[in-house]
Amino acid sequence: ETATKGGYEHFMYKEINEQPGALRRTTQGRLNTHTGGVELDEFPPGTFADVEQIHLVAMGTSHHAGMYAASLLNARGIPAFAFMSGEYSVVKPPVTPNTLVIAVSQSGETADTLDAVRRARAAGAKTLAVTNVVGSSMTRECDDELLLRAGPEIGVAATKTFSSQVTALALLSERISEDITGVRSSDARNLMEALARLPGDVQEILDTSTAREIAIEYEESDAYFFIGRGPAHPVALEGALKFKEISYEHAEGFAASELKHGPLALVTPITPVFAIFTGHEDEATLSNMKEVQARGAPVIAVTSDRSSEVVEFADHVLSIPETHPEIAGILANVQLQLVAYHAANLLERPIDKPRNLAKCVTVE
Ligand code: G6P
Repeated sequence: ETATKGGYEHFMYKEINEQPGALRRTTQGRLNTHTGGVELDEFPPGTFADVEQIHLVAMGTSHHAGMYAASLLNARGIPAFAFMSGEYSVVKPPVTPNTLVIAVSQSGETADTLDAVRRARAAGAKTLAVTNVVGSSMTRECDDELLLRAGPEIGVAATKTFSSQVTALALLSERISEDITGVRSSDARNLMEALARLPGDVQEILDTSTAREIAIEYEESDAYFFIGRGPAHPVALEGALKFKEISYEHAEGFAASELKHGPLALVTPITPVFAIFTGHEDEATLSNMKEVQARGAPVIAVTSDRSSEVVEFADHVLSIPETHPEIAGILANVQLQLVAYHAANLLERPIDKPRNLAKCVTVE
């Protein structure tokens, strides 16, 4: 086991550190920074021309990637909805033959997600698996597949696969949008260039992060909250999920806009709040940040902005390189993975195998 951990104390930490390589493989040969084009061998141009709406079905971390992708698709004017796959068969959202159902699953084996795929197919939808595992059940049961190529992930807490899922889904969103509208967006080249820089940007975070100091500073806290808007909302949920599952501390993520509608009642001087800024109505998130500070809560801002009011008012800053706003959430999430890891490590938790949890849930 020591050998496969490659000198790292935990698989999770190894996998966090493997992200630059994983992301390079996820994008390899799939983007063109000169033309701004997405080049997916699996999906020649025009493949998605008839798609009218998209449902993203997934659980856990993969659901957060699905939510992230829904926001990227909605921003392109494409009706897209993210569902927890466990709810999909209960809620039964209507599907048509022009509905594309994207199953997002690291393992390709999660029972609830497989069930959602079967329901969608039976109702006549097209299905596409976005997965890390070649030959998994999801790839066999869906019409098409897009592989993450992130490499094996052993830690129960998903890390590199989330980054690769969002990256693959960003490529797919751009391709789907181009197919539906028949034109390449004027911003596509900027996005492709940012995706090409992503491995280096993640490496910069791994080399410079102060996440461990934050974890030490707030080790004695009561609870940990995470807030964000737009694509930073699923990142807030993912930051909290990672934190709670490996540290066993109370952690919750919220849409920043939700704060006033309940969560603010929980905020005290011993509940640090991680505020995620990705260029999506940052002004509003700044005012939420001030609201929690007025209740005494320390704020850790995750931002690429080095000169704004955010930096001036935050108690701490976890810095991310400046990038395209659509993928800034991937970078913010890497900082939050590191915070969760160091917090759990200080508490000496069994990081790779948290109690009561499994890497792959094959029962409903
Ligand atoms: C379990 C794992 C999570 C994962 C979820 C969905 O809960 O512990 O890390 O996000 O299942 O798994 P999948 O393989 O479908 O992505």
